[in-house]
Amino acid sequence: MMDIRTAWEELKHKVSACRKCGLCESRHNTVFGEGPVNDCHAVIVGEAPGEDEDISGRPFVGRAGQLLTDILEKGGKISRDTIYITNTIKCRPPGNRNPSADEISACSEYLEAQLLLLHPDIVVTMGNIPTKALLDTKEGITSLRGKWHEWRGIRLLPMFHPSYLLRTEGLRGDKSPKYLTWQDVLALKTEINKLTH
Ligand code: URA
Ligand code: SF4
Repeated sequence: MMDIRTAWEELKHKVSACRKCGLCESRHNTVFGEGPVNDCHAVIVGEAPGEDEDISGRPFVGRAGQLLTDILEKGGKISRDTIYITNTIKCRPPGNRNPSADEISACSEYLEAQLLLLHPDIVVTMGNIPTKALLDTKEGITSLRGKWHEWRGIRLLPMFHPSYLLRTEGLRGDKSPKYLTWQDVLALKTEINKLTH
């Protein structure tokens, strides 16, 4: 496997100094991502850093992040540190508002560069924002999730965002977001097993 470390460190430095959109004014830290860089099988792409991520500089460390860890580790028996985890947007939108179309397009070069360098077998997009950033579609996450799509030859699986699961916690049954997400993480595990066994 070619060592991508130099290109990776340059990209990381570029993001940490980035002032391409207005989100640079209010951020405390950029959140580049974390996980295995060489021989990376799967990447999870979230939306944007929240408060905990902005303060720590790490992806998915707040409440939604804890739930993501549980979905992976309890739901899928996938250890979180075997997956590269990042976001569509590298700086926190104030008050956790949705990023604008201009902010998404300003930041997209970094996610694309990360995916091209990591060249994973599988990309998982969490919620509408990363899914629409990578797939040219008008469909929403409810119809896209749980089905395999493709981004530049890489297989892509959309799933519900863990924040959506937190908002719909009371729902039960085999159409509930939680149940469907448990199905999706098992499908993910099945594909990861094929790659690693
Ligand atoms: N939600 C996201 O989409 N990403 C994070 O890093 C944290 C919460
Ligand atoms: Fe740069 Fe992205 Fe941060 Fe905007 S959100 S300043 S484009 S790194």
